[in-house]
Amino acid sequence: MTIDPINKKEKLFPTYSGSNENLLAILNKTSQIICKWFSDAEKLGPLPIDINFKCSVPDEFGNSTDVLFSEIESLIYSSFNPVHPGSIAHLDPPPLMISILGDLIAAGLNNNLLAHELSPSISLLEESICKWFSIKLGFTESAGGIAASGGTLSNLNALVAARTHAGLEADENAVFLTSEDAHTSFVKCCLIMGLGKNNLIKVKTDNNGCMDINDLKKSINKCDEDGKKIFSIVATFGTTIRGALDPIEKISKICKERNIWLHIDGSIGGIFAITKIPINGISNVKFANSITINPQKILGITKTSSILIISDEEILKKTFATGLPYISSESNFLNRGELGIQGSRPAEIIKLWLGLRYLGMKGIEDVLSSSIEKRKLFENNLNTKKYELCSGPLHIISFLPKGMNKKESNEWTLKKRISLMDNNFMLSRPFFRHRYFLRAVFGNFNTGENHINELLKLLD
Ligand SMILES: Cc1ncc(COP(=O)(O)O)c(C=O)c1O
Repeated sequence: MTIDPINKKEKLFPTYSGSNENLLAILNKTSQIICKWFSDAEKLGPLPIDINFKCSVPDEFGNSTDVLFSEIESLIYSSFNPVHPGSIAHLDPPPLMISILGDLIAAGLNNNLLAHELSPSISLLEESICKWFSIKLGFTESAGGIAASGGTLSNLNALVAARTHAGLEADENAVFLTSEDAHTSFVKCCLIMGLGKNNLIKVKTDNNGCMDINDLKKSINKCDEDGKKIFSIVATFGTTIRGALDPIEKISKICKERNIWLHIDGSIGGIFAITKIPINGISNVKFANSITINPQKILGITKTSSILIISDEEILKKTFATGLPYISSESNFLNRGELGIQGSRPAEIIKLWLGLRYLGMKGIEDVLSSSIEKRKLFENNLNTKKYELCSGPLHIISFLPKGMNKKESNEWTLKKRISLMDNNFMLSRPFFRHRYFLRAVFGNFNTGENHINELLKLLD
């Protein structure tokens, strides 16, 4: 049945008095569909077999919620299901239940982190969560931060701040350095910052996928010779393909000697640094000027959820403050839209806050350490006579039968991925060092020892 929305005003927006029973009914129904979909995951597998989702587009008179619910169901049942224990392809774990509520609350409040008056409580919440992270990471009182929609944007916020702080925002010789295994989003950062590809200097990695310090020194000297001015060295704490950690202590010493901004892309590994999980070098993140932490990638905070922590929050203010002439501002409250690139911003901090509050440090450590244990179980039992492995101390592992060239690796990974998918295991197929690999990311809390043993059998 089609309805005319103009005549159904009471069904368009929450009412400011009365019971809002229409809203309650559609929220209940949606919850039921989503929960059923979660429960059906085991039977359906990580990916829908036939994607028969028909995309409908808006029409003249709108549609009833009954029509929309059947479309919603079709949309949901044609989606990737991160809850399935075989969903171990990417950095996209199942959603932490409580953080689903966070998204719902953020949508219901529809507050805006642009300005204090548009999000009075949430602005304070974001500030205090960033302060909490700063202290957990070992930064001092002057530290703070800002949330952003994903790791790419947090890294971009950091690089823009670093370049402005160095006074190089209009200098075509301004460069930054990352390892060759750093995430591809740094190329996007170049584009957005008006930098050419040559302004991103890639430093070699060693056999363990960590930034090679000798090559870093060589690259810095080469920059000096070429008249390039380095505004940041970016260390990756958890590389995308193998979860390697760059040697932060050594890099930070070099940065200190040369007065260069050290940014850590901790999109994957940064969250481990707030815990007591024993990982070599983890306490050194406090030496950075800034670090990206992206708990959507492993803790299960629903997308997107990323924060940038910076050792001196004033630098963010100096970099991004433009004034907001259309917003009335009180001097004792900060408009958080002036701390980063994004303007209007949803209250994503709510789901992070709820997730962290719900788990507590013990729960956070359990989720994170179980992911490492699963990678170890897999790694220790994968036939190393047969496979070449690329991994690190975190929860990611890439592998390939030994001795394959590019063509062979392409064929093997294509075939194997399909056969694993037939058995409800979804792995990814990264192109790395001129060959294709299969990659497993053990950030799915639902993946148990039995699933890992089954996967190992399929690979033997
Ligand atoms: C190491 C690393 N940095 C940055 C990013 C980009 O994060 P996002 O996709 O949240 O923008 C990724 C994405 O996987 C990543 O692996």
